[in-house]
Amino acid sequence: MKENDASFVLAIPGTQWRIAGHDATQYGSRLLAELLPGRKFPFPKSLYAVEDILRFFVKEKPQAVILDFFAGSGTTAHAVMRLNEQDGGSRQCISVTNNEVAADEQKALREQGLRPGDADWEKWGICDYITKPRVQAAISGKTPDGGPIKGDYKFTDEFPMAEGFAENAEFFTLTYESPLAVNHNLAFARIAPLLWLRAGSIGKRIDKLPAEGWAVVDAYGLLVDVDAATPFIRTVSKAKNLRIAYIVTDDDRRFQAIARRLPDGVEPVRLYESYLTNFSFVNGE
Ligand SMILES: C[S@@+](CC[C@H](N)C(=O)[O-])C[C@H]1O[C@@H](n2cnc3c(N)ncnc32)[C@H](O)[C@@H]1O
Repeated sequence: MKENDASFVLAIPGTQWRIAGHDATQYGSRLLAELLPGRKFPFPKSLYAVEDILRFFVKEKPQAVILDFFAGSGTTAHAVMRLNEQDGGSRQCISVTNNEVAADEQKALREQGLRPGDADWEKWGICDYITKPRVQAAISGKTPDGGPIKGDYKFTDEFPMAEGFAENAEFFTLTYESPLAVNHNLAFARIAPLLWLRAGSIGKRIDKLPAEGWAVVDAYGLLVDVDAATPFIRTVSKAKNLRIAYIVTDDDRRFQAIARRLPDGVEPVRLYESYLTNFSFVNGE
C-alpha cells in the first residue's frame, strides 16, 4: 500500500487510537453477550474498532470482498454489515475459522470420554457455538433462543440491534476430497459451493450435476457434457451478468474450441484441472 494512493487510504490513521468505542470489554465481550446470552468467546475485538479500521480501506468500495481467515467471533463480518447499512453497499465478507474448543473445556469433555470429531465435542467449537450463531443473530436481530437482541448500536449509526440487517449468509464446512473422486465428477456436491464463490457468491447455485449435461444460473454456467456445447453457449450468450463458464473436460483442444465461442466478458475455466493443480504440491501429492 502506498501512502499517496488515495484509492486505498482516505486518511492516514495515527499509530495509537484511544477511542471510547474501541473498548473491547464494552463493545467486544459485552456486545457479544447481548447477541449470544450465556456464551463466551475469549477477547473479541470491539465491533466499532473493526468498523473504523475497515472504513479506511473500503469506504469508497461498496462492492468490496473482505476476507477474514481467522474469524473467531465474527466481528469482521458484523462490521461489514454495519458499513453496508450506512451507505447501501453490497460488500461481502468471507469468514473462515476452525472449530476449536477452548483448552479448559477440552479437559472437561475428555473427562466425559469425548473426543474431537464427536458431535457432543464439536458443538462447543468456536465456529458452531459462536461464529455462525453470531452472524445469524446479527442479521436476524434475534438471539439463538429466538428473543429480540437487547440494546442499540452506537456511534456512527445508532439503531436497535433487534432490527438486524438486510443481509444473507451461507455456511459451508471445508472438507478434504480425493482428487480422483473430484476428477471423476463423484464429489460434485462438495465442489459446488466453490464454483459459486469463485463466480462472486451471487444468485443461484448449481448443487448437483445437471442431467442435461449443462446448466446456467445467474453468475455462471457449467458444461459437463462437451457434446452439449451448442445449447450451452446459446444460453450463456443470452444471459446478463454471467461471469464464468466452467467447462469439464480433459481435452485441451475441445476446451480451447468452446472457450473461443463464448461471448466477451465470460471467463472460461476448465474443470477440474484448475482446481486440482492449484492445490497440488511439488512432490505430486
Ligand atoms: C484472535 S481470534 C479472532 C478474533 C476476532 N477478530 C474477533 O473479534 O472475534 C483468532 C481465531 O482464529 C481461529 N483459528 C486458529 N487457528 C485457525 C486456523 N488454522 N484456521 C482458521 N481459524 C483458526 C481461532 O479459533 C480463533 O477463534
